Amino acid sequence: MTPATAAAALAWLAEMGADEIIGDTPVNRMVAAPAPAAAIVTAARPFAAAVQAARKGEAPADLASCSTLAEIEAALSAFDACPLKKTATNLCYADGNPYARVMLVGEAPGRDEDIQGKPFVGRSGQLLDRMLAAIGLDRKADDRDSAVFITNTIFWRPPGNRTPTEAETAMCLPFLLRTIEIQKPDVIVCLGATPAHRLTGRSDGILKLRGKWTEATVSGRKIPLLPTLHPAYLLRQPAQKRLAWRDLLSLRQALDAH
Ligand code: URA
Repeated sequence: MTPATAAAALAWLAEMGADEIIGDTPVNRMVAAPAPAAAIVTAARPFAAAVQAARKGEAPADLASCSTLAEIEAALSAFDACPLKKTATNLCYADGNPYARVMLVGEAPGRDEDIQGKPFVGRSGQLLDRMLAAIGLDRKADDRDSAVFITNTIFWRPPGNRTPTEAETAMCLPFLLRTIEIQKPDVIVCLGATPAHRLTGRSDGILKLRGKWTEATVSGRKIPLLPTLHPAYLLRQPAQKRLAWRDLLSLRQALDAH
C-alpha cells in the first residue's frame, strides 16, 4: 500500500464513522478465518432472546427486583446481551437529580459520553445545559423544581455514533421503563425522534412530533411527554433553535401550571 492509498483508506474509514481504534493489535480481516457458523449462532442467541423478550414486554429477570436507580445501573452493568457493550468504553446510564420533576431522554451516548460514562457531556450536552438554563432548569440543581434527570434510549455508544437499531433500543427499553417507574417524573421531554418513537409508539418524523404534548403510559401511569429537537440537530441547523425555544417555553408553562 502506498502512503497515498493508505491516507485515502484512512479518510474513508473516518468518513464511515470509524473514529476510534478498538483493539491494540491490528487485525487483517482479509486473511482471518471466518468464525464457524456455530459460534456465530451461539453469540447471537442472548441478543436475539433479549430482543424477543423486550418485544414481548418482559424485563430481564434481575430488573424486576430493582427498586432504586443504583440497582438499575448495576443490572445494566451485569447485562451482557447488548452487543454495543463490547465496543463501548463505559456504561452511560444517567445524570442529574433523581428527584427532578423533569426527565430528559436522549438517543444514545456519543464519544464524550462514552469516555465519561455520563449522558450529554459533549458539545450537544453543553448546548442542552444552556437551553435548560434559559428556562431556569439545571442538571446540578438540588431542588426538584429546578432540577432535571437525564438518561438515554440506549446505554452504550453505538460504534461511530450510528443511529441505534430497532433491536438495540427494544432491548434497552425495559431498563428505560423501569427507570421511569422509579424516578417518577412529572414530565418527560424526548430529545429527538428515537426516544419519542420508543415511548409513544408513534413513528412520525420529529419535525411533526415536536412541540405537541402527548403521553407515555408506564405501568398504567400516564405521564405528559413533550418531544423536541435534539441538540445535536440544533448544532447542525441553528435556524431551528427558534422551534426548540418554543418547546422550551411550552415546557416552562406546563411546569409552572402544576
Ligand atoms: N446525544 C444523545 O442522544 N445522548 C447523549 O447522551 C449525548 C448525545
